[in-house]
Amino acid sequence: MSLLQAATDVRERAYAPYSRFKVGAALRATSGAVYVGCNVENVAYPEGTCAEAGAIAAMIAGGDSKIAEVFVIADSPSPVPPCGGCRQKLAEFAGADVKVTLCTTDGLQKTMTVAELLPGSFTAAHMDRA
Ligand code: THU
Repeated sequence: MSLLQAATDVRERAYAPYSRFKVGAALRATSGAVYVGCNVENVAYPEGTCAEAGAIAAMIAGGDSKIAEVFVIADSPSPVPPCGGCRQKLAEFAGADVKVTLCTTDGLQKTMTVAELLPGSFTAAHMDRA
């Protein structure tokens, strides 16, 4: 199954009663395994989690830790951009050149790299003083 189809399918299972904005994410790890996630909201709004975070959690639980490619989809007027926190989460497990394809349910797509999504990102190297 394609990453687009996997993201489209998991989006249907999103729990988004507060925003009514369902998001699906699918990523392929460098092992070839595909992991999916959807947003899971909470009545205590800050406790909600994004689709990308769910897919990353599934990947780590599945024993992978390197992302090869990502698709994110929502019923949005333009290809849905990951939030700032999700950009940082993706950068933890994806190289700068990894492609993230932002999609709408109407068929629009925009592909960006992790570096384009998060220029000047904070990395472990910034904590090195020695
Ligand atoms: N959301 C995601 O799941 N991923 C994104 O990249 C953007 C936003 C979710 C969070 C919340 O449940 C809803 O979309 C509205 O912000």
